Amino acid sequence: MYQRHQNLEHFIRVARNLFRARALPDAARQLAVAVFERLDQPSDDGKRNNERYPACDLLDSALAPLLGDSSGLGEAARTIKLLEPAIGWQRRTSGMYGSKDYIENHVHGMICGPGGMESRYDVQLGFSLLAPATRYPDHQHPPEEAYVLLSAGAFRQRDGDWFDPGLGGGLHNPRNAVHAMRSGTTPLLALWCLLI
Ligand SMILES: [Fe+2]
Repeated sequence: MYQRHQNLEHFIRVARNLFRARALPDAARQLAVAVFERLDQPSDDGKRNNERYPACDLLDSALAPLLGDSSGLGEAARTIKLLEPAIGWQRRTSGMYGSKDYIENHVHGMICGPGGMESRYDVQLGFSLLAPATRYPDHQHPPEEAYVLLSAGAFRQRDGDWFDPGLGGGLHNPRNAVHAMRSGTTPLLALWCLLI
């Protein structure tokens, strides 16, 4: 029977708190409550995305500013580092308006979800990592999603203005709503969760 590793258990606890922050929109917090309720039940089918991509090498520089931080953001960063060898990596290769080389300049780390450390299909919990000066393509998907920022970063929903939720802040993307993100002069690192 599958037993969840204690480092993953710890990460889920830390992430759950980050997604409870007052700085998040109500809809993001509500979605996260449902995601983490499902995560109370460990589940893994053993399918791992083992491939690493060039942007994985940015993880250390993205985590570095938080490693000495005593807040939940610091705890999340230190725990992501512990989980790194077991994370399932993936990339998006389609969508409009992505910056040149965006494919090489981004990666998603799946922690709980298909091909992730805990491979499952009822939720997704992971993070996006963008190299500096990278614009991720416009995209949309049926599940709604919530983000928490572990760095600076700008987001856009539908054809609205770009905005930075701020460190520890977040956003909520409704079902099928077009959205995008972009980094500034430093890597963008943001946690997300989705209810499938
Ligand atoms: Fe998305």
